[in-house]
Amino acid sequence: MKAVLIPGDGIGPEIAKSVEDITKAMKLDIEWVKYQAGAEYAQKTKEVFEPGLVDAIKEYKWALKGPTATPIGTGFRSVNVALRQQFATYANVRPIRSFKGIDSKYENIDLVMIRENTEDLYKGIEYMINENMANGIKLITREASEKICRYAFEYAKINNRHKVTAIHKANIMKYTDGLFLEAFRDVAKNYPDIEAQEVIVDNMCMQLVLRPETFDVLVAPNLYGDIVSDLCAGLIGGLGFAPSGNIGDEYQIYEAVHGSAPDIAGKNIANPSALLLAFALMLEALGKLTEANRLREALAKVVEEGKTITPDIGGTASTSAFTQSIIEKL
Ligand code: NAI
Repeated sequence: MKAVLIPGDGIGPEIAKSVEDITKAMKLDIEWVKYQAGAEYAQKTKEVFEPGLVDAIKEYKWALKGPTATPIGTGFRSVNVALRQQFATYANVRPIRSFKGIDSKYENIDLVMIRENTEDLYKGIEYMINENMANGIKLITREASEKICRYAFEYAKINNRHKVTAIHKANIMKYTDGLFLEAFRDVAKNYPDIEAQEVIVDNMCMQLVLRPETFDVLVAPNLYGDIVSDLCAGLIGGLGFAPSGNIGDEYQIYEAVHGSAPDIAGKNIANPSALLLAFALMLEALGKLTEANRLREALAKVVEEGKTITPDIGGTASTSAFTQSIIEKL
């Protein structure tokens, strides 16, 4: 099969190379079709996407994306927002699992955050009422709320998980979050075997820090999902091991959660783990479960041994040496 690979900006090409090397080493039936996108491409061409990128995703349906920077003050659109809108990837899925060998406050974390990706305060409907007053609109629809809640329960069912927790603030935002919660309750009725729990967002942050092991699948509107998913990444030691998938009815775009790390770009010291884990998520969604687990296990072994790891996680190895060690463990 063919799939689109967008190396992106900064460390993007270095970590994308790691994905290509591992695809080759695992002899996977995936031909990467590469397209440029992001700030560096925009500086050269005045366009944020290489022509043909959108058509290629339309044709191949699956994409893996490196980090992209948005040129500030130039009127260019964010590649991430443009892709999300173009391909209607309504669900942002972020599994959060502990890695042995990574310095973190907890062990054995295994959570999945499912964030609504299309509405809420991210609609960008905001304006100045006068020079001292601004208004932003939190748009929530029943359709999008039901869709994301259904996705969360289906995810739980397919992945043999037992509980879905809705994150909300419906006690204060009675209409917007109230509608989200109503949709959650309606959808939950169709899944009697899965526990449906509701937790107010501020309490959720505290509970996650105190008792992360009591949660399983989390579902939230866009803004809470954005914030709580980074809190969850903190539970496993940061963004270095945080992959995500942007899922739509027709298209799926996987990526690392971190950015383009301009401070270390071009030095061959970037940690490719998050993009490799995003690739593993993509393999899993393609039904290649054995391959996904093989990749995760090889990566986990290299990290646990700690001999050939990149500087961000306490080592001295280069991106290519780290990748080579994973290949040896595969
Ligand atoms: P960042 O995630 O790029 O960097 C934050 C810190 O983490 C830096 O010190 C960086 O060196 C380190 N870091 C990040 N990824 C790493 C990796 N794989 N290996 C080793 N160290 C790593 O966040 P920042 O600096 O806020 O953003 C830089 C650019 O990335 C901005 O233009 C931003 O818009 C863009 N960005 C893009 C995202 C995407 O495309 N999904 C997500 C977040 C930011």
